[in-house]
Parts: sequence; structure tokens; C-alpha cells
Amino acid sequence: MDTRLMDHRHGYGLVTRTFHWLMALLLLWQAVSVVLRVTVDDTPLADFFFGYHFSNGVLILALAVLRGAWGLLNLSRRPPHDRPIERLAALAHVAMYALLIVVPGVALIRAFGSDRAFSALGLSIFEGHETEIEWMTGLGSQWHGLLGWTLLALIVGHIVMAWVHTRVWKEPLIRRMTRGSDQE
Ligand code: HEM
Repeated sequence: MDTRLMDHRHGYGLVTRTFHWLMALLLLWQAVSVVLRVTVDDTPLADFFFGYHFSNGVLILALAVLRGAWGLLNLSRRPPHDRPIERLAALAHVAMYALLIVVPGVALIRAFGSDRAFSALGLSIFEGHETEIEWMTGLGSQWHGLLGWTLLALIVGHIVMAWVHTRVWKEPLIRRMTRGSDQE
């Protein structure tokens, strides 16, 4: 197990790994909450999981901003992404970062513009306007679900490709994010 804090040529440091797996857990919860919402809406199970959708989403947004800043700080140290397939992977990673900010971002804009109070993480965040601000609620209603599903689809592709690299092409990429190094 590599215990370096910062990222390096052969893998990711402890900080990046903690961000990665913590966000993976929160995003798994988000995925379960929305799948239950569209399949068995209005059941105790769906209500339980969706009950944490707002708080988890706000936490994901905060972590995405911090993780993005940490990623930029470590950019020149990270394993190189020079081959065409690695460039494509880097593009997908940037798209996921962007959606991790935009998806909860438009939901929060909608909550801000709404006529109802909004709370998350046990805190009251917005009071609710007397009359709804239509462009704000419209933005969320039009884009949140669509981009949310796009993000979840990209994450499925990301998991499949990590598996293909490791198992099919015998490039031990997953180790970089678990043990912290692709070296034995
Ligand atoms: C990265 C974080 C998030 C992801 C991946 C995500 C994903 C999704 C997805 C895919 C749906 C669509 C479900 C359907 O088709 O019915 C949805 C619905 C919803 N989300 Fe999120 N969400 C996130 C964060 C948030 C946040 C922060 C809020 C609150 C501010 C929120 C509020 C809602 C609401 C109210 C709905 C139901 C209405 C709608 O479909 O737009 N979400 N979410």
C-alpha cells in the first residue's frame, strides 16, 4: 500500500483516493435513489433513499469543487495520459468533473428560485421566494434529470473501461486508485 499524500507518475496519493472512493459511495447512493424513484416511486424504500438525495447531492458538489482543486494542484504529477485512448479517457474524466458540478448546481438554482424552502445536511439553505423565479426552476427541470442520467451513464462507462484495462488489456490501472501504485 502506497502511503504518499500527493499523486505521482505511478498512481494516486491518499487524498485523491479518499475523494474518489467517498464520492463513489455517495454517487452509488444517488444512482440507487433515482433508479428507485423511477421504478417503485412512493414506496418506503424509494422515500428512504430519495430522502438523502438533496443532502448527498450538496455534499457531492462541495467535494467535487475541492477534488477539482486538488486535481489541478496534482495535474503535472499524475500518471501520463498521452496515448490516444488515454486522451479520450482524460476527456471523459473532465466531462465527469464538469457534470459533478453542473448536475447538483442546476438543482440548487432550481431550489433557490422556487417558492418553497430548501434544506439539506440538516441546514436551512434557502427560504423560498414569494413567487417562483421561472427561468431558475425551468433550468433545473429541463436539465437536472437529463444531465444526471448522462453523468450516471458516464460513470458506468468509466467502471467498464477500468475493468477492461485491468482484466482484458492487463494494464493494472485499478491498483493506482486502490493501493496507490501500478508497481508491484
Ligand atoms: C451529483 C449529484 C446528483 C445526481 C447525480 C442527481 C441525479 C438525478 C437524476 C438522474 C434525477 C432524475 C430522476 C428521474 O428521472 O425521475 C434526479 C432527480 C431529482 N433531483 Fe437530483 N441529482 C443530484 C443532486 C441533486 C441535488 C443537489 C438536488 C437538490 C438541490 C437534487 C434534486 C432533485 C429533484 C428534486 C429531483 C426530482 C425532479 C427531477 O427529476 O428533476 N438532486 N436527480
